[in-house]
Amino acid sequence: MNGQGIVHEIHPVELPGPLVPAGAEPIVRATKIEKYFGRNHVLRGCSMTVYPRETITILGRSGSGKSTFLRCLNFLEEPSAGRVEIDDTAVEARPLGDRPRAERERIRKLRTDAGMVFQEFNLFPHLSVIGNLVEAPVHVKHVARPAATELAESYLEKVGLIDKRNEYPSRLSGGQRQRVAIARALTMEPKVLLFDEPTSALDPSLVGEVLKVMESLAHEGRTMIVVTHEMQFAREAADRIYYMHEGQFVEIGPHTQVIDDPQDPRTREFLARFLGPSRSRQAAATPQDEAVAPPPAVGPGPV
Ligand SMILES: Nc1ncnc2c1ncn2[C@@H]1O[C@H](COP(=O)(O)OP(=O)(O)O)[C@@H](O)[C@H]1O
Ligand SMILES: [Mg+2]
Repeated sequence: MNGQGIVHEIHPVELPGPLVPAGAEPIVRATKIEKYFGRNHVLRGCSMTVYPRETITILGRSGSGKSTFLRCLNFLEEPSAGRVEIDDTAVEARPLGDRPRAERERIRKLRTDAGMVFQEFNLFPHLSVIGNLVEAPVHVKHVARPAATELAESYLEKVGLIDKRNEYPSRLSGGQRQRVAIARALTMEPKVLLFDEPTSALDPSLVGEVLKVMESLAHEGRTMIVVTHEMQFAREAADRIYYMHEGQFVEIGPHTQVIDDPQDPRTREFLARFLGPSRSRQAAATPQDEAVAPPPAVGPGPV
């Protein structure tokens, strides 16, 4: 396909997780993604390999570039350089100049293949729950309405909200809205689900119901990339954790390394702030300076 100039090297620690069938090819390859906002160099050569059925978690302090990376994966942001490949669709950054029609079509395909769940749900307030779910399959994928409705109902069942089928978003709790947003993403039957801090806007009492849905998706083998501060979720569900610092993945590994025995001083410093110094040997000696973001409003949950 295109992009012969950019070589994707799989980092030696990007070992496939236990659910990955032997010999499986990666389903997501992000290669050397760079992003500038004006003179702000936000992403500095980020590469990621994800195999089918894996759950990946991205950790990092606020402002490190996590959301930007996720948005570059489906070209909600145009990367300044690099290439994204999801399944058999590859698109290379082309920050200057127009894209030929075939390439715009590939971006449309990437977006369909990579469903996104945002912090703020982004449901249509004027549509019922079922209306929110069938909108995109009918209008973007041209699925017939009865088939889309049937699919939507099956996913509402999965997230435990089939009884809210005809309700409007304003009458749902935050946790219910986010579960609807997850069902909406699933109804597009994407090849990979991208979550950007899906529980950070929720009242702490509502976080659990959303994490439970996400954990069940992870365990049934959905391919997911999750930006989160929920360490318990990362421990339970992630095959691999990528720690981002100032636009680079500075540590990659399983939770037994990245959370329990971080090797990079920047990961250690973040976790010391997050989990408390007693969680990490080296962390006890780390001064807690202002450069480290405080935990978000919704804490890391029981660890
Ligand atoms: N649309 C944008 N325009 C300009 N700067 C942006 C934009 N989005 C993000 N940034 C900047 O990029 C950096 C990384 O932001 P972001 O990806 O949101 O970090 P994170 O999700 O890790 O908190 C920050 O410095 C932020 O101000
Ligand atoms: Mg963010």
